[in-house]
Order: sequence, then C-alpha cells, then structure tokens
Amino acid sequence: MLIRAEHLTVEYEKARERTRLVALWDLTLDVAEGEFLVIVGPSGCGKTTFLSAVAGLVPPTSGAVYFSGQAVRQPGPDRAMVFQDYALMPWRTVEQNVRFGLELAGKRDREHRAIVQRYIELVGLAGFERSYPHELSGGMRQRVGLARALAVDPRVLLMDEPFGAVDAMTREIMQGELEKIIAETGKTVVFITHSIDEALVLADRIVVITSRPGRLQEIVPVDLPRPRYEHDIKALPRYQELRGHVWSLLQQEVRQNVKSGRE
Ligand SMILES: Nc1ncnc2c1ncn2[C@@H]1O[C@H](COP(=O)(O)OP(=O)(O)O)[C@@H](O)[C@H]1O
Ligand SMILES: [Mg+2]
Repeated sequence: MLIRAEHLTVEYEKARERTRLVALWDLTLDVAEGEFLVIVGPSGCGKTTFLSAVAGLVPPTSGAVYFSGQAVRQPGPDRAMVFQDYALMPWRTVEQNVRFGLELAGKRDREHRAIVQRYIELVGLAGFERSYPHELSGGMRQRVGLARALAVDPRVLLMDEPFGAVDAMTREIMQGELEKIIAETGKTVVFITHSIDEALVLADRIVVITSRPGRLQEIVPVDLPRPRYEHDIKALPRYQELRGHVWSLLQQEVRQNVKSGRE
C-alpha cells in the first residue's frame, strides 16, 4: 500500500469555546500505488483534513497515516498538493510558478529548464511560459497548478476540489486531460470533489465520508471502462446504477443537515 490511514482521528482546538472539534473519526483506509481514489462527502465532513493529514500539514490526534510504510510527520516532495484556488504566485510567470516546486524540492538548477518545459507541454500550456497568472483563464491556472505538482515527480497527487472553480465545459475537458496525464505518468491520485459525476468519471474507487464527525461510510468500486468520456459513460446503465447508489449514500445525510440547519 502506498498510503494507509490507520484509525485516523483529527481534532481541532476551538480556542474561543475551549472545546475540540472532531473533524475525522477513526478512519482506516488504504490507497494502492497507481490508484485513482476519489473522496466525496458533504462540506465540512473532513475531506480537506484528510488530505492535509496525508500531506503532513495536520497531525493526527490519534491513529496514524503511513506513506510507503513510514509514519507521516511532515510535508515532503513525494506528496504534492493541487488546490482549488490554484495557489499560484501572481508575480511569477507560468514557467517560474512551475519551477517553484523544484526549488522547494532542492533539485539542481540546471535540470530545471527541461523538466519545467516538459510538464508545461504535458498540461497543454506550451506558448504561455512567459504569461502571468492574471493573463490566464481559470482552467489554464489550474493547469499551472497541476504542472507545478507534477514537476517534482511526486508519488502521489493530492487534489482538493481542483476543478471546483472552473466552468462546466472546462471542467469536463480538464477531467479528460487529467485521466490521460495520469494514464501516461502512472501517478497515484487522491482527489476530492463534491460532484458525484466527477467522481464517477475519474475514480477507481469512491470513498464516501459522512460528516460530524467525518467517518468512512462506504467504499464504492467504480467498474466502468476507461477512457471515460463523460458524455458516453453517462448513458451506461451501470453508470446510472452507481450514481444512484452514491447519491443515496449522500442524500440521507444532506437532508439531515438541511433539516437541522447545519448547511
Ligand atoms: N484549522 C482548523 N481549525 C479549526 N477547525 C477546522 C480547521 N480546519 C477545518 N476545521 C473544521 O473541521 C471540519 C472539517 O473541515 P474540512 O476538512 O475543511 O472539511 P471539508 O473539506 O470536507 O469541507 C469543519 O467543521 C471545519 O470547520
Ligand atoms: Mg475542503
């Protein structure tokens, strides 16, 4: 197993109220090398907390996260994050943003140029090397974030609702490209979304998490053929069946939250 969360519980201090908030409760979960794992769940159920724990940004309150057999204690270049809000540096060009990850990873300078160019091309941004983030569309900015993450050659990509801020058409195109890039690079991916359709297009397995506290509800293997083009696979009876199942898992809880005024 590349990643193993073992009875992972994460609590946050609520300083003002002097209480603790249980964000994740007793989560045990494996991610295999080369797997595309998608996590879905209502907002506030601990999805980002889980990624942060794998990234080494948030410590477990109890239990542990193991990466390649070692307990995770801090961030490292073997685990790269891709954020919803891109997290690009506005004063750096595309090229310089992509290079940033390499600088952090301490790779030698003369190796940078070829690596940076390779990943800029892989995400379809050739010709935009000297552009600044404000000159790019949302979809293009997200490609920069992806290239920056890939450039350090991590063993896993941790993607937190990466296409949440781009329009529906761009999102569909990006999903297709991501699937292709992952097939090419063989990367392991842990991907968060609140879109069931996005989960079904991308996932080998879907992990459904419930909220307050975040607990593992069910793991749904997605046995749909690849490559998956959203338009085509949506017509498959199996797609509708899986969609109905994941929806029913989420629906009950969303209803409860609406009723109790928590959402
Ligand atoms: N740094 C933090 N300090 C205190 N509470 C936090 C912090 N980060 C997240 N939380 C709380 O933990 C819960 C889970 O948050 P999060 O992991 O961001 O959920 P999700 O990504 O599923 O929306 C939420 O109730 C959120 O308010
Ligand atoms: Mg989140």
